[in-house]
Amino acid sequence: MTSFWSKLQKPFAVMAPMADVTDPAWRALVAKQGRPAVTWTEFVSADGLWHLNKASTGVPQTQGAPAARPIPPFASDTPVSANPLMRDLAFTEAERPIVAQFFTAKPPMMAYAAKLAEELGFDGVDINMGCPDRAIEKQGAGAAMVKTPAAAQAVIRAAQEASSLPVSVKTRIGWNAESIDEWIPALLETKPTALTVHLRTRKELSLVPAHWEVMPRIVALRDQLAPETRVIGNGDVQSLDEAREKCAEYGCDGVMIGRGIFGNPWVFAGRASEDTPLPEKLAALVELAHAFEALRPAKNFAILKKHIKAFVTGFDGAAEFRATLMAAENASELEDICRASYN
Ligand SMILES: Cc1cc2nc3c(=O)[nH]c(=O)nc-3n(C[C@H](O)[C@H](O)[C@H](O)COP(=O)(O)O)c2cc1C
Repeated sequence: MTSFWSKLQKPFAVMAPMADVTDPAWRALVAKQGRPAVTWTEFVSADGLWHLNKASTGVPQTQGAPAARPIPPFASDTPVSANPLMRDLAFTEAERPIVAQFFTAKPPMMAYAAKLAEELGFDGVDINMGCPDRAIEKQGAGAAMVKTPAAAQAVIRAAQEASSLPVSVKTRIGWNAESIDEWIPALLETKPTALTVHLRTRKELSLVPAHWEVMPRIVALRDQLAPETRVIGNGDVQSLDEAREKCAEYGCDGVMIGRGIFGNPWVFAGRASEDTPLPEKLAALVELAHAFEALRPAKNFAILKKHIKAFVTGFDGAAEFRATLMAAENASELEDICRASYN
């Protein structure tokens, strides 16, 4: 089946999933200021979705794989208070194409999540096989999947069989050491529609420069084993120009930009952070804060403060002004401080 992936013009630049950063409020802002070629949700626990939706909709617990049972009527009927994870899957038309990212080590749970994503109207399903969070790795999910290629394949196939959505994978180049020659072919054997590779090992976290020099090997494996799979490189890219350069130099089809979006929702419009005047940045920050309160009511306002740090930087008096803004306890207070200082 043709999907949006096959229509993307290469090279393309996509926005990375980042928990507590690329939430619905942030994504709404970016969709307005300069949309990426593809948007990801933050990662969501497939197991959490299943258990909380089941509890809230009273689907009886029976034997057998959950994927074989009817899907609970979660899409519109589940009270979000009963399953806050459903809020992570909220999106608007302006964000399309949008891919829902899930993690789990259990194929039936991934099948459930993929069906849910289809029912919710997502354009694709992405499987996280790169997260180094210990709580996630303990479940055998995230980056831990690098150590269990057969289990990883089973999770990918479960998603592929459960829905008609294109299934992509996001991973790293290895666990303690780079293991591209074993790990990447195992993934490509399942023919994912796209494969994003964060060019560091799990051990390296994000502490060393990304190893872009290994990308041509990944592209060669793709050419040989799964020519239809889009390969997306990820690590340290800050701008559209840099993304184009990386694709030209290393042969990947696209680039995923993560931390390069901090303080710069204009990245995908091709604008550098320093080219945006402070009042425009503050207006964006205030808009983000109000959207955060509206779309993420159960989340602590403190989560938003990382954006204050990222937006308010690089000018005389930035540190003092940041400190004042950090004292705000809600969006209105933040707005009042901005208005008083820069009107
Ligand atoms: C705060 C934060 C949250 C992240 N959350 C996720 C996530 O939910 N799913 C995921 O696949 N990667 C996640 N990542 C990893 C990024 O998507 C990306 O792979 C990483 O930051 C490297 O890209 P960069 O150098 O462009 O930032 C997260 C990274 C950060 C900094």
